[in-house]
Amino acid sequence: MRIGILTGGGDCPGLNAVIRAVVRMATTEYADEVVGFRDGWRGVLDGDTVPLDMAAVRGLLPRGGTVLGASRTNPYASENGEQRVLDTLERLGIDALIPVGGEDTLGVASRLAEAGVHCVGVPKTIDNDLDATDYTFGFDTAVGVATEAIDRLHTTGDSHHRTLVVEVMGRHAGWIALHAGMAGGATVVLVPERPFDLDAVVAHCQHRFQSGFSPIVVVSEGARPAGTPLTTPGGQRDAFGHERLGGIGEALARVIEDRTGREARAVVLGHVQRGGTPTPFDRVLATRFGLAAVEAVHSGAWGVMVALRGTDIVQVPLSVAVAKLKLVPVERYAEVEVFFG
Ligand code: F6P
Repeated sequence: MRIGILTGGGDCPGLNAVIRAVVRMATTEYADEVVGFRDGWRGVLDGDTVPLDMAAVRGLLPRGGTVLGASRTNPYASENGEQRVLDTLERLGIDALIPVGGEDTLGVASRLAEAGVHCVGVPKTIDNDLDATDYTFGFDTAVGVATEAIDRLHTTGDSHHRTLVVEVMGRHAGWIALHAGMAGGATVVLVPERPFDLDAVVAHCQHRFQSGFSPIVVVSEGARPAGTPLTTPGGQRDAFGHERLGGIGEALARVIEDRTGREARAVVLGHVQRGGTPTPFDRVLATRFGLAAVEAVHSGAWGVMVALRGTDIVQVPLSVAVAKLKLVPVERYAEVEVFFG
C-alpha cells in the first residue's frame, strides 16, 4: 500500500513520534510505502511530498515539532480545494491518508472521507479539546511546561510582593489552565468556559496578599470577564476563521494592579508550551496512535479517528470526533475553585 501522512494545524510535541510509529509499523509489518505531505493540507493541495522510510524517521521519537512542517491551510477555503486534493492523491497513487491534527485538520479529513478519500485521522492538540478522545498528545507536555513556569513564578512573585498573571494557551477549552493551575497551586484559574467575575479575582488576590504570599493568576488566552469586556488586541484570523488570541493576561494584570494597589505583571507562555521534547506520556500516546492508525488502514476502517478511551485505543467515526469540543465541565472547575484565594 502507499500511505500518505500529514501534520496540520498548530504543531505539538509528539507529532514526530506519530510519524515514526506510522513509518515503522507500515514498512516493517506490512511492507507499505509512506509518503509525507509537507505543511499540512498545503502539501496535499500542491502535491509537495517527502519520502518517509526507516532512515528518515531515525532519532525522531524525542524531537518536538514536526519534520513534515505544519500549516493552517484549509482546502475548503482554497479554490477547487477538494478537487485538487483528489487529483494529488490519484496522481501519487495514495491508497490511504493519515491526517494528524485537531478539530480543523480532522474536520477537513471528515469532509474528504465523505467525498470518498480513504482517511484515518489521528488526534493532536495541546488544548486537549477533542471530545472523542480522553487525551490528545502534546497536552501533557504543555501542562508540564506551564506548571514549571508557575513553580518558578511563585518564588519570584513572593520575593517582590507582586501579582503574576500567567497566560496559557486554550482557545475554547481551559484544560491547560485547569491542570497547570491545580498542579502549580494557582490563586485563581480562569477558563474560556466560564466568564469570570473581576471583583472575585481581585478579592482572591487581596486574600493571598493578606496571607503573606503573592498571587498567581492562571488565565487561558480565550477566557473573558462576565459583563464589561477587557480590551485585548485582536484582529487577524486564520483560514478556518479563528481569531489570533492573546492579551487577556496583560489586560487582567492592569486591573488587578489598579484595584489591589500592588504591582502586577503578566507572563505569556505562548508557543513555549508547544515547543520542545514530548513527555514520556505523550511519546507513548503518540506512538500508540500511530500504530493504531496503520492497523485501521489495513482493516479498511475508513473515515475513523483513533482515540484513547481509558487505557485502550479505539476507533470513532471522524464525523463524530469533530462534532463537538471537549470543554472543562462544571465539576472539574469546582475542584480547582476549592484552592482559590
Ligand atoms: O490549537 C492549538 C493552539 O495552540 C491554541 O491553543 C492557540 O490558540 C493556537 O494554537 C495558536 O495558533 P498559532 O500558533 O497558529 O497562532
